[in-house]
Amino acid sequence: MAKNAPAFTCTSCGAAHKKWAGRCDSCGAWNSVIEEAPLSAGPKSLGGKGRVIALTDLATQADPPPRATSGMEELDRVLGGGLVEASAILVGGDPGIGKSTLLLQAAAAFARNGVKSMYISGEEATAQVQMRAQRLGLADAPVFLGAETNLRDILTTLDAERPGLAIIDSIQTMWLDTVESAPGSVSQVRSAAHELVTFAKKRGVAIILVGHVTKDGQIAGPRVVEHMVDTVLYFEGERGHHFRILRAVKNRFGPAAEIGVFEMTGDGLSQVTNPSALFLSDRDKPAPGSAVFAGIEGTRPVLTEIQALVSPSPLGTPRRTVVGLDSGRLSTILAVLEARCGIPFAGLDVYLNVAGGMRVSEPAADLAVAAALLSAREDVAIPPDMVLFGEISLSGALRPVAQTENRLKEAMKLGFTQAIAPSRSKMAGVEGMAVRQMPDLTAFVGEMFGAG
Ligand code: TYD
Ligand code: MG
Repeated sequence: MAKNAPAFTCTSCGAAHKKWAGRCDSCGAWNSVIEEAPLSAGPKSLGGKGRVIALTDLATQADPPPRATSGMEELDRVLGGGLVEASAILVGGDPGIGKSTLLLQAAAAFARNGVKSMYISGEEATAQVQMRAQRLGLADAPVFLGAETNLRDILTTLDAERPGLAIIDSIQTMWLDTVESAPGSVSQVRSAAHELVTFAKKRGVAIILVGHVTKDGQIAGPRVVEHMVDTVLYFEGERGHHFRILRAVKNRFGPAAEIGVFEMTGDGLSQVTNPSALFLSDRDKPAPGSAVFAGIEGTRPVLTEIQALVSPSPLGTPRRTVVGLDSGRLSTILAVLEARCGIPFAGLDVYLNVAGGMRVSEPAADLAVAAALLSAREDVAIPPDMVLFGEISLSGALRPVAQTENRLKEAMKLGFTQAIAPSRSKMAGVEGMAVRQMPDLTAFVGEMFGAG
């Protein structure tokens, strides 16, 4: 592309386009491609010689970065054990999911633990944030509060105050007077994030950026920021459920895939230290179509209930509705059940759901999904004290999964006494837990549902 040629960017997925288009070919969004001011071409030539940078070897170990903790364990764990200084963190999530609430609570918690914390709101007036703080019982926490959207003023303030933690709520409302496009556009979001991240690194301030995302990507932003920051956390939950999950999807300073579980209550978010009990709490009598999956989320075992409903379909193409699981995975499991075990689901509508608004992405959930489907189809309840886990391969074989013992121990703690696991699972027996190991799906079907 010629220098300074106009560049076009999709505000929904961030894809670059050479020319304007009504529809982005990358994500399919309509009317999302806008013209962007080109980034500067950089220094024309590198006048003069640079200096030689110091090189080292891989063995030399720097000290682990010092971390500040908030005392909110669910948050500290997702951060990888606390907040690393001079790091940049993005917290994304749907509007209204509770990001501002979470971060106001986090600011107060860090402030009470001696970290100088600043909360800059670009969306709400200070009075609104103060009212919320009052309601959450945080009004006495020594948080520095500001309401501003002009990034030049914010950076000047940060430089003068030098807090340990600065929260910017949200990155979509920030604007730089050097960038022409409107706040919330890809170029503003990218430039503002770049300024803030650079500032964080240079001045040793930990910065948390709040970013709105919607499932269909209607609001510009966080995607283009993800690669600039050290840590990306998503705050998710189903509407109508009060559970909220803070999930690490990228973390340069800790394990990714870690989750923290919260519950939205009348006085803010409260931590859920035993999520399994919560996700299973609304289970009533043993019912056909329900199976309990012993899963691992990050470093923690979490038990969830998988529910299935199968009913004759009036439609030519039966319905497949999935909540909380990958729909491609459901199709695969249905195909394996049909091809390897001779159990057809053609002509049947299938509804699959993870109870409590949890989202399960582990392949280890396959066996519990198959069990829930079979149980619904055959109208036979699975014993209420049984957990299941195992990955199903296309041949119908059950593959062992990691951390078998942790799964079993968590199940024990919650009163389960039987488990179905793949053959060759690596484990020492867990006392009080009857574990049956099965080589493949056919054996499982034969055992649980007669000949199938
Ligand atoms: P908010 O933190 O403003 O969401 P976001 O910043 O992600 O847009 O949370 C808004 C929702 O949370 C709102 O619908 C009301 C609810 N809420 C509670 O249920 N309890 C509370 O104590 C607070 C502060 C909010
Ligand atoms: Mg908000």
